Amino acid sequence: MFYPFNPNQPADADSFANRREHLERIDQRIVPSFQRHSSGVRNLAIVGPPGIGKTSLANQLIVRCAAADPPVLVVYISASLGYGSFFAFCHALVTDAIAQVAAREGIGSRAREELQRWNFSLRLPGFSATRLTSTDPSPSSASELLRQEFSRLSRDYLKPHGLGMALILDDAHMLSVMEPHAMLILRAAFQDLHLMGGRIGLVITGPESFFAQMRANAEPASRFFEHIRLEPFALSDLDDVIDRPLQRAGMSEQFVVRSDARTWLMDKTRGHPFFVTFILQEWLDWSLRMEITQFDTVCAEETWPHVMRRLSQERFLADWETASEQERDVLCDIVDAESGLAASQAPHGNVLRRLVAKNLVERTRRGVYTVYHPLFGEFVSHIRQ
Ligand SMILES: Nc1ncnc2c1ncn2[C@@H]1O[C@H](COP(=O)(O)OP(=O)(O)OP(=O)(O)O)[C@@H](O)[C@H]1O
Ligand SMILES: [Mg+2]
Repeated sequence: MFYPFNPNQPADADSFANRREHLERIDQRIVPSFQRHSSGVRNLAIVGPPGIGKTSLANQLIVRCAAADPPVLVVYISASLGYGSFFAFCHALVTDAIAQVAAREGIGSRAREELQRWNFSLRLPGFSATRLTSTDPSPSSASELLRQEFSRLSRDYLKPHGLGMALILDDAHMLSVMEPHAMLILRAAFQDLHLMGGRIGLVITGPESFFAQMRANAEPASRFFEHIRLEPFALSDLDDVIDRPLQRAGMSEQFVVRSDARTWLMDKTRGHPFFVTFILQEWLDWSLRMEITQFDTVCAEETWPHVMRRLSQERFLADWETASEQERDVLCDIVDAESGLAASQAPHGNVLRRLVAKNLVERTRRGVYTVYHPLFGEFVSHIRQ
């Protein structure tokens, strides 16, 4: 059976819903700016809390780059600590970009052969084009690597073939864990390229706290990007999230989510895309098993203990595991305070900061701290009983 809801994978081209305003901006301003004859690239930062849909939107950007005329080449790379160093990450980025150009139709067989034999022009002790040594070159070498290789790629291959390129760095905040100046280095390299007439755009995703930090510590890097701040879905957005995937799966009649259940879902999830998709998946499973086609609030209440158990197993227990004993106590204090906890009421301000860094707690505009989602709050009160 084809399954319409999957909370563990970013939405693909078929299941992607809503975000019309952002898609328009991507279509009208961002993608055209990556094309060879634009007046200059517009770099984009997609910002928001975990599970809000950053990778899903980045995937839409990939789709739209491919559909553009002329198409924009895309390198998508998820920044993970697995690269071992920022330099190794940059090396992978350059290598992927070269491979993308080489794979492009119409590039010509001679150029393709040259690209396949690409020699990194960088001369650094201990560095070889095909293998990284255990002692990676310094960050300044990463900067040189980006500047030299991307200018060469742009000058010798992209420009002559009328091509533009988008580099999508998903979870870019991980780069700053490996190299605190990662964003400034990227900015320096790609700003130079822009001034030389290159059309290689950067798209990064990450949590809001990363960009707040960037504004505070590396303001020029922050200004280098336009921002899309993703918000939760509104009630009216749920129709697109629920009905289209069901139609595609041919299940519109087998599983009907009544409007009272939609409002219930909105109240529980506050429109958070991951939780919405997770709960829909559980509801659908249950309805198929029980052979109930009309899903209403009575069904929602009846299935809730089971859904909450599944959510705990799949997500909240892992969240809880990342907190120390002391952090767990503070999480309980926050949940007990109901409307959030002011830093002055908390026993240890630095514990709150650590919880924010772990994405378990958010600081609201009023300067009070709350758990990252009310459903996690429900889990915390439950686990401590
Ligand atoms: N626009 C959308 N349409 C439909 N489903 C969506 C949309 N955005 C997000 N989702 C659903 O929400 C879940 C989380 O989305 P996604 O992985 O894109 O979030 P994220 O912000 O990249 O999360 P993380 O911070 O953990 O990387 C996915 O299961 C996806 O199916
Ligand atoms: Mg993601």
